Amino acid sequence: MSYSNESIAGLVRPDSVHKSVYTDPEIFQLEMDRIYGHAWIYAGHESQVPKVGDYHTTRIGDQDVIMVRGVDNKVHVLYNRCPHKGAMLVARGDGNAGKFFRCPYHAWTFKLDGSHLAAPIRRGFEGTRFDPASPEFSMRALARVENYRGFVFASQAAEGPSLSDFLGGVRSSIDNLCDRSPEGEVEVAGGVFKVMQPSNWKVFYENLHDTMHANVTHESSYTSAREQAEAYGSMPLELHIMDGNGEPYDFWEKLSLMAFDYGHGYMEGIFNPGAIETDPVTRSHFESLEAAYGRERALAILGENRHNTIIYGSGSPHTVFQQFRVIRPISVDRTMVEIQTFRLKGAPEAIFKRGLMYANLINSPSSNVMPDDIELYGRCQQGNQTRGGDWVSQHRYAGTDKPIEGGMTSINGTSELPMRNQFQAWKQYMLGEI
Ligand code: FES
Ligand SMILES: [Fe+2]
Repeated sequence: MSYSNESIAGLVRPDSVHKSVYTDPEIFQLEMDRIYGHAWIYAGHESQVPKVGDYHTTRIGDQDVIMVRGVDNKVHVLYNRCPHKGAMLVARGDGNAGKFFRCPYHAWTFKLDGSHLAAPIRRGFEGTRFDPASPEFSMRALARVENYRGFVFASQAAEGPSLSDFLGGVRSSIDNLCDRSPEGEVEVAGGVFKVMQPSNWKVFYENLHDTMHANVTHESSYTSAREQAEAYGSMPLELHIMDGNGEPYDFWEKLSLMAFDYGHGYMEGIFNPGAIETDPVTRSHFESLEAAYGRERALAILGENRHNTIIYGSGSPHTVFQQFRVIRPISVDRTMVEIQTFRLKGAPEAIFKRGLMYANLINSPSSNVMPDDIELYGRCQQGNQTRGGDWVSQHRYAGTDKPIEGGMTSINGTSELPMRNQFQAWKQYMLGEI
């Protein structure tokens, strides 16, 4: 079928969505144009391209792009396409292009900002319309690129909100992540994990604040953690993190949820990685912050305890354990998740190691926790392809969400507010309203 605006609007109800939003390839293609063709999308962190000529390839929606450090020291984001025959300029991955890009097909070359540098044997172009100064013969840059505290976002739309306005209520999560460094800066370190998930991209976002699944889906890991803790006679942080998923419904109910414009949001922290008074790692972190910012500010920075933040369309930063799970849609039923871990510049190395431990335990392909989720995402994808029903429920606490500046909140941590909020933004994007 071809979707009219009216039929798209009919897919989202105040308390449920039609399953075709997860399964129809035509919807996926519309999303690539109307969401990923407009929104600010995280391209990567500037620390991934520290030197002139360094590049990192990634995807903005269905578009292969190159994030590259130019001779002007600015980070550029270019479509990965040679204007001659359309070849991808660089193979997917990271590298250094030197002073310019050289296409591996016929050796046209381009400056690091994408502008045309040279094509071999120029006399062959004499008398033709070929013009090296014309944009037609240069690599094309994405319409807008902005950097917020080292986080580089690109938008394919020339018009729209500034990055700062777009991030709105979750800009403070990036701030807190950076402020946890005594130098106010972070860098991607220790490599990245990549996991291909057999499911639609939106399912991951919905799961990030889905507190009702934790003690069901993750039963095997939290029961094992409890058994091990009993055998050791104590509960180290490694086990505590897995144990947290086993909290009863009452615990989750008391957490508060924040949902903002454009589908973003965050939830309150689930556990504290350690008290300043009793945990030596947290203590040393606090001391490094206190030396840089003073006691009061250091306490405020570490006192900001958020669990997964959602930047809808880009992924999920985690401030306390310094991660960014970057969510890249591949097809209607395939999603690539890239897990970045950050080093807080100037903070004790033990803090970085703690972040790596969290990545290994919770987010890595060999984690004891994430495979549970991936299994369920895949089952949602499969189940929604049967004729067993058409609608996906988001009824929990529907109608009770409270408005706040730039969004909504719920004091019931089991509310499905985050999913409802994401689909309100989804609908607005798909109807061209934002
Ligand atoms: S395709 Fe790039 S130079 Fe020919
Ligand atoms: Fe989970």
